[in-house]
Amino acid sequence: MIRKFKTPISDNIVNIGPDAGYDQIILATETSCDETAAAVVLNGRHVLSNVVASQIETHKKYGGVVPEVAAREHLESINMVVEEAVKKSGIKLNEITAFAATVGPGLVGALLVGLNTAKSLSLVYDKPFLGVNHLNAHVCANYLSSENENPNIWKPPFVCLLISGGHTQIIRVNSYCNQELIGETLDDAVGEAYDKVARLLKLPYPGGPLLDKMAQTGDKNRFKFTEAKVGEYDFSFSGLKTAVLRLVQSFDGTSYEKPPVPVDHSSSLPLRSGCEIPREDIAASFQEAVSVTLLKKTLKAAKDSNINQITLAGGVAANSEIRKKFFSLENTGFRVHAPALKYCTDNAAMVASSAYFLSNVMEELDIEVFSRVK
Ligand code: KG4
Ligand code: ZN
Repeated sequence: MIRKFKTPISDNIVNIGPDAGYDQIILATETSCDETAAAVVLNGRHVLSNVVASQIETHKKYGGVVPEVAAREHLESINMVVEEAVKKSGIKLNEITAFAATVGPGLVGALLVGLNTAKSLSLVYDKPFLGVNHLNAHVCANYLSSENENPNIWKPPFVCLLISGGHTQIIRVNSYCNQELIGETLDDAVGEAYDKVARLLKLPYPGGPLLDKMAQTGDKNRFKFTEAKVGEYDFSFSGLKTAVLRLVQSFDGTSYEKPPVPVDHSSSLPLRSGCEIPREDIAASFQEAVSVTLLKKTLKAAKDSNINQITLAGGVAANSEIRKKFFSLENTGFRVHAPALKYCTDNAAMVASSAYFLSNVMEELDIEVFSRVK
């Protein structure tokens, strides 16, 4: 299927996608949350440059992302990040086939920065503008490879488990331009659950990667958590989070019955003498409960769909235990893939890939951003 896009000034038609039959270079921006990113990608797969400026240090002191602060930081960094991406790619701006940006879901003020940057470039160079859905983009991270890596030839159909700070979904990718949602979380996203449990264990924001590290030295069988009873491809993590809270309270002496007290994260939890919180064992047991559920449901979705290819995507796909469990499926006849770690967390290369493979309806320059999944 050839997708046709108009240039904004001269109304020229530009064909985009694998069937268009010529080399296409897309420059994309990504500013949906707390990373300011720009990338240049050839034919949806080959990353010529990928620049990410993280705001983690700024938001750390607040214990989470502050939307207004994020938008302001994006504004300060975006020009520099785009310039660096262009320079590193070795491509001139007038050689770019199309410009793309994440239009949602995400923080509205933050999204507008990347969107307006890409739109402006599209106007100045009279090349099409393509709006990209952030979730589609995470899935497309599976198609990416860098210059000195082996060409990645991962192709649909596959079942993708998308696990990020804001979303947890099972998606059936029937073809390059058809991603079908078949299950999702009913409450917290996996990354959100990781970050909240990490806070309970006194780890700084964003706690996911630190909890992953801490879990590696703990006993994953010490505590058993019950799995939520939801639809066969759906998830729920809020009960698990509460179970961890109760467990921590049972060690630090805070009563079970009392509502959770506001925790002062800058000081230590009051410890009952001689009764240390077994943080490593709690981290490992939590990680085990999460990864077992994710694996079980994704595997069921793949089997029910008669698809023997499974992928991971999103920031939590960087998790060591989840990767280990999923890759062990290769011993049972499945082909398993996960993006390189730098393409799991938010980046613009995945946005360029998604623009190439499946963005199809958002070419108008008056396109709006959106905060939640439509
Ligand atoms: O995809 P992403 O960069 O941003 C969103 O679109 O949300 O994902 C960020 C999330 C955060 O919650 C972070 O704690 C989590 O991914 N994360 C991890 C790991 N690395 C990042 N969670 C668990 N283990 C990790 N190794
Ligand atoms: Zn993301």
